[in-house]
Amino acid sequence: MLLSSTARLAARRVVSTAAFRSSARTATTRSAASADSRSSIMPLAVVAAAGGLALGASRMREEEKTQCLFGTGSNTEAIEEKFATYWPRNIMILFGPPGAGKGTHGPKIEDMLGIVQLSTGDMLRAAVSAKTEVGLKAAAVMKAGGLVSDDIVVGIIRDRIKEPDCKFGFILDGFPRTLVQSQALDKMLADEGACVTKVISLDIPDEVLEERICGRWIHKKSGRSYHVKFAPPKAMKLDNNGNPVLESMKDNETGEPLMQRPDDTPAALVKRLQSYHGETVPILNHYKPNGIVAAVNANQGMDGVWGEILKALKRSAQ
Ligand code: AP5
Repeated sequence: MLLSSTARLAARRVVSTAAFRSSARTATTRSAASADSRSSIMPLAVVAAAGGLALGASRMREEEKTQCLFGTGSNTEAIEEKFATYWPRNIMILFGPPGAGKGTHGPKIEDMLGIVQLSTGDMLRAAVSAKTEVGLKAAAVMKAGGLVSDDIVVGIIRDRIKEPDCKFGFILDGFPRTLVQSQALDKMLADEGACVTKVISLDIPDEVLEERICGRWIHKKSGRSYHVKFAPPKAMKLDNNGNPVLESMKDNETGEPLMQRPDDTPAALVKRLQSYHGETVPILNHYKPNGIVAAVNANQGMDGVWGEILKALKRSAQ
């Protein structure tokens, strides 16, 4: 009885946090919540696992069970702490070329599993906006569609995954992007006895990507992403040539102006795709022998892509 009410409470927290997050994404994680609210998310897996443990302990007396599972405080924080300390982290890579849908579907995985999405692209863009040392180094390379140096991005990720909101796991979006980065990731995870648990590969032909990338508009503060054709903002108006009227490109939630990324141009896309095929795709072969790579057809409507992602996330799909 105690377990089920605790589980219900935890599940409610997941749902309400997810609802909050869908209206307030941060720029540095492409996710929806502040770091504080995210750190209090308990993944549904934890709730379910707590249920499994309780069944296994069915011979214990009721109060012994309570002590074993929750300590004397019988609260969700105690369960969180237990799972954060003794269970492996769920470490996922969302893989795919520019425009494949990593930023579109990552937040949904985040909401469903309650683990945070870490976008190196968003982190670097935040550093560029804030004119930090890293940002000053990265700005020109990013605008031209090149790759920022391995040292910089590895350093960013190394620090970020130590944050409390990563304690149950995290979704990497845009990292690793080179074999050097994947080896550095494996090494930093191995240091804690962990490893990458799933790679979701969003597969899509290059020809489709220019339309997706060049039609994308974003709300800078929240990271919300729109598309003139596939996901237009509510206020969008078209001129006589069928192009969007700049003043009408407003965020659905805040009414604030949308913008286009400086690297979302046909010229920069050519370079981004070159580095994707030359340096990033080999990462798939690096992880395939572990049986953790799941391919998703990203060249279909968003609902179809999401359906395949859900299947790929299941353990049986490995
Ligand atoms: P980053 O921000 O990671 O960009 P990217 O990988 O090029 O990915 P995108 O954000 O462009 O694509 P996405 O897959 O998220 O597409 P989205 O879902 O928005 O990196 C930017 C730069 O930072 C790099 O070029 C590099 O310089 C640097 N960098 C970052 N990480 C680095 C690293 N590890 N090492 C070195 N340098 C690094 O979708 C696109 C559009 O399509 C949207 O408008 C969306 O509405 C639409 N759309 C999505 N899905 C569908 C669908 N199924 N049907 C129709 N439309 C769709």
